[in-house]
Amino acid sequence: MMKPVIKIFSSIEKLASHSAEFIREQTDEILSGGSYTVAVSGGSTPRAVYKFIADNFGNSINWHYIKIFFCDERCVPPDDNDSNYKMTDETLLKKINIPAENIFRIKGENDPFREAPSYSEVIKNNAQPKNGLPQFDLVMLGLGEDGHTASIFPDQIDKFYSKNICEVAIHPATGQKRITISGEVINNAKLAAFIVTGEKKSRIVSKILSGSAEKINYPASLVDPKKGKLIWMLDTAAANLLDSKIMQRGKVY
Ligand code: 6PG
Repeated sequence: MMKPVIKIFSSIEKLASHSAEFIREQTDEILSGGSYTVAVSGGSTPRAVYKFIADNFGNSINWHYIKIFFCDERCVPPDDNDSNYKMTDETLLKKINIPAENIFRIKGENDPFREAPSYSEVIKNNAQPKNGLPQFDLVMLGLGEDGHTASIFPDQIDKFYSKNICEVAIHPATGQKRITISGEVINNAKLAAFIVTGEKKSRIVSKILSGSAEKINYPASLVDPKKGKLIWMLDTAAANLLDSKIMQRGKVY
């Protein structure tokens, strides 16, 4: 496993600003006709980052080069408060000048077992292929306290290695069906970036980054892009339990 880059931020605003600057740099380098594919996640931390980016970088990123995909989606209609699309649309997409055709929504309102293969085709047809799988330029991941990421949960960790681009998952606590990209697609990305904030995540962050034996039980610990980069972007609260060795490796902002 490549050693992940660890970046520790004193606030979520600094984390979001750093993320936005990175995306801006990437899109500044795109030649006309090119694109930059980003797969986004749901959750409260991603929500805060998207809002900050929309409010502060809405006009300084070349959004027309960016194609937005979803790492996962709850199987609900797009106007449901649980919808990752709705959250992303309200906090970011509505506020930026991104062409509608650059947004690839998972249709949570559809039958999940038909939408998973259908969205797999959407990804295949709109992201660059590499190593026999679609390759996202950037996959933005959240982390659950149980170690899930996207909607790959510990009790369905086999879905991480699915040969399918997308799988149907079931939230272990609520039973809610989800559509998720597989871990193989995540690990085919040029860059996978975890964005994790808050004290509540400090324990799982420490278990995963400290190399504890139990970490293989957590889907998030399996994220290790084969030929790409892995960055953990943490605020100080989420990094609070990291041991000194790892803290020394982490760059503080
Ligand atoms: C989802 C996400 C999920 C999320 C984590 C972190 O659909 O919920 O894709 O992977 O990113 O659960 O969410 P919080 O930041 O809300 O803890």
